[in-house]
Amino acid sequence: MMDWDTLTQTTLHCTACKLCEGRKNVVFGVGVPTAEVMFIGEGPGQHEDEQGEPFVGRSGQLMDKMMNYIGLDRSRNVYIANIVKCRPPQNRDPAGEEIAACIGYLRNQVALIRPKIIVCVGRIAAMTLIQPDYKVTRQHGEWVEKNGVWMMGTFHPAALLRNPANTQNGFADFLSLRDKIAELGIKI
Ligand code: URA
Repeated sequence: MMDWDTLTQTTLHCTACKLCEGRKNVVFGVGVPTAEVMFIGEGPGQHEDEQGEPFVGRSGQLMDKMMNYIGLDRSRNVYIANIVKCRPPQNRDPAGEEIAACIGYLRNQVALIRPKIIVCVGRIAAMTLIQPDYKVTRQHGEWVEKNGVWMMGTFHPAALLRNPANTQNGFADFLSLRDKIAELGIKI
């Protein structure tokens, strides 16, 4: 396992998969590295690639709104990362080999942060971290404990922007997250 600085530097120079060829920035993560709540998305989009920070585009604005609704804030009490740290071209899903090349960095981040809760944002994160055949529409908001970490999958904000009919369900998942934070005695 690498320490935080070594991990950051290694990731910023990574060439383990082809996604390095098209990137402007490696998107390592943002937030508080001692946070007890972690959000994990799929991978950088165009704005994230340009700015080097996760969830800064239109999806990110919605995610900030949903986090703020329950007292969470990327500058104060959460850490946000992605399954892959470089942007897939045309925002396609990351390929299995790209996920395989990158996932060790995320696992190292999780091992250093030691969150009590991980929220998987969208299908790719939930399939990678909770269950390979995870179905967001059926399983969103369900809690599972894995290796002492409470995990939940929820809608990707981009999916909510495409299909606003699920917005209420998405906010309900955040209320469930607020309950879990209280139940675990996490101070935010
Ligand atoms: N979508 C993601 O899954 N992650 C980001 O960082 C931005 C958009």
